[in-house]
Amino acid sequence: MMDKKEKLNELKRRHNAVILAHYYAPADVQEAADYIGDSFLLSQTAARLDNPVICFAGVRFMGESAKILCPDKTVLLPEAGADCPMAHMADPEEIAALRERVEDLAVVCYINSTAELKCCADVCVTSSNALKIVRSLPNKNICFIPDRHLGQHIAASLPEKRFFFFDGCCHVHTGITPEQVRAVRKAHPGIPVLAHPECRPEVLELADYIGSTSGIIGRASSCSAGELLICTEQGVLRELRKNCPGKTFYFPGENCVCPDMKQITLDKVIRSLETLSPEVTVSEEIRRKAWPPLARMLELGGRKESAQ
Ligand code: 13P
Ligand code: SF4
Repeated sequence: MMDKKEKLNELKRRHNAVILAHYYAPADVQEAADYIGDSFLLSQTAARLDNPVICFAGVRFMGESAKILCPDKTVLLPEAGADCPMAHMADPEEIAALRERVEDLAVVCYINSTAELKCCADVCVTSSNALKIVRSLPNKNICFIPDRHLGQHIAASLPEKRFFFFDGCCHVHTGITPEQVRAVRKAHPGIPVLAHPECRPEVLELADYIGSTSGIIGRASSCSAGELLICTEQGVLRELRKNCPGKTFYFPGENCVCPDMKQITLDKVIRSLETLSPEVTVSEEIRRKAWPPLARMLELGGRKESAQ
């Protein structure tokens, strides 16, 4: 009887498939993946690989981005219902109305968005490249969709631009409170706080470092502190422990868990490779409109890649 690892290897060989996993996927799924990363690294990786089948251990917007960038590949999302609620939190009609009203406007779309929302954008960004990309835009006015917290965070560094926001946010990161952060700091005086920019502004004010999941992992590895408070989804713990075996990591509470990411179980990954389903599909009309902002992100966001 084949164990799960052998089964996965056999299926990957059979289909010449590759498994991409986000840091928030369950630990055993990350273990089985060929590449693990933040949203930017995973879209870069999807775009450059030759494998005809990509199994995306992440949420729908990640699978959709891979499909938009690689329309000829079969992109599998092991749980069709794994969707990021924030991806829907902007309205194309309101964006179109803003375009009518405001001159010299660029619509900047966080990659955590539906393919339909990406169609409204001039450029996409992830949390690891949003500041760099928005700074490079010639436009004075920026409509940032859908994450208000990430948008406000980068706006603070770009006073020369005028920002318009929508009311989107991530329920997991917004659930982290400044009181929780202060409580951990009180129990562990001097502990550095590393936060994802999807956190609310009152939490970001308390942070010593603000960055994407890979940024947080990189900072935790490079800093000299032996104890760190991590304000993001707990899935990053696997990579943190791997990179920093001697350090202790605290999270602000029990609730830093993304239920959608956790729907991607190892059994579902195996089943999706057995059945080549559920497949991510994007209509050709939407794909043609959503491709330019994603391709522009890859061009402006820089290239850094690493295999597991
Ligand atoms: P990054 O992977 O870009 O840090 O984003 C975090 C996230 O919320 C993905 O859903
Ligand atoms: Fe969406 Fe938040 Fe989950 Fe990321 S952690 S997929 S932003 S709900």
